Amino acid sequence: MPVVVTTGDEEGGEDMGEQREHWGSRLGFVMAAVGSAVGLGNMWRFSYLAAESGGAAFVVLYIGMTALVALPIMLAEFTLGRGARQSPVLALAHYGGPAWKPLGWLFVAAGFLILAYYSVIAGWTVRYALLGLRDGFAGDASARFAAISTGLTAIVFHAAFMAVTVSVVAGGVRSGIERTNLVLMPMLFVILIGLAIYASQLDGAALGYAYYLRPRFDELASFSVLSQAAGQAFFSLSLGMGAMLTYASYLDRHEHLPNASLQIAGADFLVAFIAGLAVFPLIFAHGLETAVGESTVGALFITLPTAFEKMGLAGRLVGTLFFAALVVGALTSAIALLEQVVATAMDVFKWPRRSSAIGLGVIIFLMGVPAALDLDVLGKMDQLAGNVFLVIGSLALAIFVGWRMQDPIGEVAIGAPGVRWFFLWRSLLRFVAPPVLIVVLYYSFRALVSGDG
Ligand code: PFF
Repeated sequence: MPVVVTTGDEEGGEDMGEQREHWGSRLGFVMAAVGSAVGLGNMWRFSYLAAESGGAAFVVLYIGMTALVALPIMLAEFTLGRGARQSPVLALAHYGGPAWKPLGWLFVAAGFLILAYYSVIAGWTVRYALLGLRDGFAGDASARFAAISTGLTAIVFHAAFMAVTVSVVAGGVRSGIERTNLVLMPMLFVILIGLAIYASQLDGAALGYAYYLRPRFDELASFSVLSQAAGQAFFSLSLGMGAMLTYASYLDRHEHLPNASLQIAGADFLVAFIAGLAVFPLIFAHGLETAVGESTVGALFITLPTAFEKMGLAGRLVGTLFFAALVVGALTSAIALLEQVVATAMDVFKWPRRSSAIGLGVIIFLMGVPAALDLDVLGKMDQLAGNVFLVIGSLALAIFVGWRMQDPIGEVAIGAPGVRWFFLWRSLLRFVAPPVLIVVLYYSFRALVSGDG
């Protein structure tokens, strides 16, 4: 075997694996994957969906969907990535032959699409955090949202956010991505827990909790709620587009994948759940419940700032921290999205990391401009990506690892001696995930065509 001289973090893209970049520690990998999972989806959509349909019943459905469908798919992505030590296109070809490459390209397309509008929303959160710090939240919240969310301001903050994302990814797996996540994720947990504790002391807390969690099991008897729970689980866990696969491609063979998956999914759920515990008491303490109704975006960017305004100086601090947490979550997710497309460019075309990050970052920025000019475009991109691309991607992954891959159990079991339920894992991929995902896809398409959801 030739002696391989590694070039450090900056260069990569070797297809033999020896020179591939690598996480510095197990914790670094887990934090980066949690960083990918925890994002706007957790704080922006989970609690809102729960409050809207089923309360605690929705939470139970969500946990069930995660355990039976999403977690097996996360483990499938980890198995493919760690085994092939390649980004999605080549990893799929490695285990399934060249016929599976187009699926990898679909993942890459999803990465472009999601990051393009995700970064626009992230730009709003940056703007709100800065605003809170400098001026507070006084004034007409709807007018402010209109000014921030579209037009030149939105484009400028979208560009700034993309620039930061690019700079982290250009820094490489260890000194860019891992280091950033190791600093930012603990910060996010501390802020969020602090906010939830603060919110629990407010007068409206009990009403807020009730609004969020009062169980209504009858509301679950609907395929559209089922499909929303599933769509949310895939989006929240960054599944169905090879982001987790890419992160796993920087892992050692001996990593215990089942434990990592459980830890990541658990942390992601906790953040989403706790965010709801912070948000609804704030809204109810100020009698703003009637303003929650129209949309998730409205709840987050109009109703909450109104609550912060009513809280005076404390509101300024709480509001700034809340939006700072959103910025952090959005950044660590955007990093994972960009890394997936950059890793593909490095592996497939042998482009250097830095130029891939900059070049692809610019393209994604341009793709996001229409979303920064028109909220409807942004909404459509979100729906298409979250409910269609990720669901198709997850379905294909379940079929691929469940039916096509030669010995998935042998592969996943490496590093996880003594785990007895891998047979169950493959059965879930084979028999449970595909039918559930087909139903979900059908309802997602319907929602997309009818223009709601
Ligand atoms: N999981 C992120 C969120 O909940 O906001 C979104 C996301 C990040 C989706 C990374 C896909 C991805 F690859």
